[in-house]
Amino acid sequence: MPPPLPVVRTVAELRAQVAAWRRAGERVGFVPTMGALHEGHLSLVRLALERAQRVVVSIFVNPTQFGPNEDFDAYPRAEARDVELLAQAGAHLVFAPGAAEMYPEGFSTTVSVAGVTEPLDGAARPGHFTGVATVVTKLLLQCGPDVAVFGEKDYQQLQVIRRLVRDLDIPVEIVGGPTARAQDGLALSSRNAYLSAQERPVAGQLNAILRTAAGRLRSGEPVAAVEADAVRALTEAGFRKVDYVEVRAAGDLARLGPGPIEAPARILAAAHIGRTRLIDNLAV
Ligand code: PAF
Repeated sequence: MPPPLPVVRTVAELRAQVAAWRRAGERVGFVPTMGALHEGHLSLVRLALERAQRVVVSIFVNPTQFGPNEDFDAYPRAEARDVELLAQAGAHLVFAPGAAEMYPEGFSTTVSVAGVTEPLDGAARPGHFTGVATVVTKLLLQCGPDVAVFGEKDYQQLQVIRRLVRDLDIPVEIVGGPTARAQDGLALSSRNAYLSAQERPVAGQLNAILRTAAGRLRSGEPVAAVEADAVRALTEAGFRKVDYVEVRAAGDLARLGPGPIEAPARILAAAHIGRTRLIDNLAV
């Protein structure tokens, strides 16, 4: 049995514990999450444990990053199980604030990042990245870790966070963790819990289609044709709506020309199946 894992709900308690570790000369790692943890999150915790003696995991379903017609209310919540999984994974502290601790009466400040937030999920989910940037800035300032780990599954989010940390001089190293996948390639996500038995095999096609597309790009085929074929393949596979399939520059997600890729790139996609919106991306 792993030792019981403390759960704190206030910034004051979080800071007191982190300060004590600091005084003892220990490095602190941080993994922000919205809970409903799966193997992907746990792999980020293990990555943080390789880089720091102490690891804090936050669990907060951040209302400001959900649009009015999105799944904030339905988003899975499973704190007791999450804490058990985190204890087994070797985390040292859970920070699980309530909404009033994060957004007290009168809260009026937002962090909005230009450029990298504009295409892709920024276009499909207006306001989403301002919600993410605001809460991540707060979490980083609340915890004050040496290193913070975010999944590459949310690749655009990772680039947004790298940008804001540089722009606001937040003294933390940002590390991206590789996407954990099911056997058929489906990226693990808390939202996979929404998939029906009929939808689940279709969902796996998202990664298969991106792998095919990435292979074609690597062999020099033009971006525009590969993107268009991937959209068509997703629709034929049974996705009800494709928000985007785009090949972008790996760092700042700038648009590329329609021809063959010439520098490190990323292919990113978002598509709906039933009531579930899935995203995935691969390096090219
Ligand atoms: O990736 C997530 O789970 C969330 O967007 C994050 C980074 C915890 C901010 O709420």
